[in-house]
Amino acid sequence: MIRLEQIQRRYVSDEVETTALRDIDLAVSAGEFLAVMGPSGCGKSTLLNTLGTVDRPTSGRYLFGDQDLAAMGEKALARFRGAMLGFVFQSFNLIDELTIEENVALGLAYRANGGDRRTRVSQAMDKVGIAHRARHFPHQLSGGQQQRAAIARAIVGDPKLILADEPTGNLDTANGEQVMNILQALNEEGATIVMVTHSPSHADMARRRIDMLDGRIVASAMRAI
Ligand SMILES: Nc1ncnc2c1ncn2[C@@H]1O[C@H](COP(=O)(O)OP(=O)(O)OP(=O)(O)O)[C@@H](O)[C@H]1O
Ligand SMILES: [Mg+2]
Repeated sequence: MIRLEQIQRRYVSDEVETTALRDIDLAVSAGEFLAVMGPSGCGKSTLLNTLGTVDRPTSGRYLFGDQDLAAMGEKALARFRGAMLGFVFQSFNLIDELTIEENVALGLAYRANGGDRRTRVSQAMDKVGIAHRARHFPHQLSGGQQQRAAIARAIVGDPKLILADEPTGNLDTANGEQVMNILQALNEEGATIVMVTHSPSHADMARRRIDMLDGRIVASAMRAI
């Protein structure tokens, strides 16, 4: 489904040059659950943001299905993201002024209208068990509930690929497990997931794990079943 070929990402600021990604070759098949691990600063978020097309590689190719994303303009990329991708972040990134159901509806962007919109939003909230908090605001929810709401927002549009950057990083053990169980269930239903994590036990819930160091992928292993 996805192929990164020889991706490089260099940041240049005040004469300091950082290479965040080096020689990245990575293929992700439809239905995979891939965990990305590695020490702080090794390029995990840059890799995820590259997959999410919110960060552009300095060089290399990014193929999604038969589309070459490197050749796509900003407008087309924004449309692509809205239709194909769902994002989950460590810090939830919900909008404080909107209720949970309004936050979840943001994941639909311009797609679906009227009744269909409401049905999709309530189905997504049901799936992650936060329907009873639909009219609440983010600050009225626990961290675990906020992250589940963020997952509902990510999946409401039926994305082809879910990108999660340390989705359990700000959660206690119990809430972290709950979020992992939701991600695993989504994967079993067919969602393709790429997840960055610092937790070896959460990485073990993925089918494949890659390890990064200094901008490179240094190991790739399938979980023994
Ligand atoms: N916007 C930027 N400008 C300059 N350098 C950047 C920028 N974003 C990331 N970097 C650098 O790129 C490298 C990789 O950063 P990245 O955020 O991908 O690491 P990470 O593996 O996600 O780390 P962590 O586990 O701490 O989240 C780091 O050296 C970082 O300082
Ligand atoms: Mg990071």
